[in-house]
Amino acid sequence: MKNYKNVFVFDHPLIKHKIAILRDKSTGMKEFRELIEEITTIMTYESMRDVQLTPVTVETPLETTVQYKVPEESVAIVPILRAGLGMVNGVHKVFPTARVGHIGMYRDEQTLEPQEYYCKLPEGIENKTVFLVDPMLATGGSACDALDALKKRGCKNIKFMAIIGAPEGVSKVAEAHPDVPVYVSTLDRQLNENGYILPGLGDAGDRLYGTK
Ligand code: PRP
Ligand code: URA
Repeated sequence: MKNYKNVFVFDHPLIKHKIAILRDKSTGMKEFRELIEEITTIMTYESMRDVQLTPVTVETPLETTVQYKVPEESVAIVPILRAGLGMVNGVHKVFPTARVGHIGMYRDEQTLEPQEYYCKLPEGIENKTVFLVDPMLATGGSACDALDALKKRGCKNIKFMAIIGAPEGVSKVAEAHPDVPVYVSTLDRQLNENGYILPGLGDAGDRLYGTK
């Protein structure tokens, strides 16, 4: 894969440890859900290194001081349904008051093309930093369509976070949306003939919600 300026692959030992358990087919639904949430929280911290801070005056027990805070109301979370829902709590751990929009998409199993079936976004989202989240970035079709939908609504500051990325999908998103930083906690080898990521973790939605 090419070196893209807007792609960030996490190389944190704790993330590696958690991903190893996540991939294991014997990991059950509860632990899988918890791991997705924990990894998302670590990724959220890492992806906010460039955040704009606002000065605030704080009274310590000893004196008055100027300190810096993240304006919480400036963040929104948008999961791509269904599997993206599993990442919402992970971002909420860092930004508890962030509003949540939803974009519903599923991949047609034959064509692998994304089909949008739902879109409801909070008012004023165009002025917020938007975390678009989905655990799996495979062909990149779903992420690209979701990013198009957010940009149509006027969003200018979007970060896309996926737990596992395939080189095919990462390249597609990085090239179609060079203004969007793409964060993946790990970059896998390739897609198989059915569009599944290898080595991957299987179907994230099914593993989160026990549908298979
Ligand atoms: C999965 C995943 C992504 C999409 C990635 O969703 O959660 O949204 O596939 O594939 P792509 O990069 O090739 O578009 P899926 O369509 O299985 O729907 P689900 O979340 O409802 O299970
Ligand atoms: N969606 C998933 O849930 N898993 C994959 O490997 C690819 C797309």
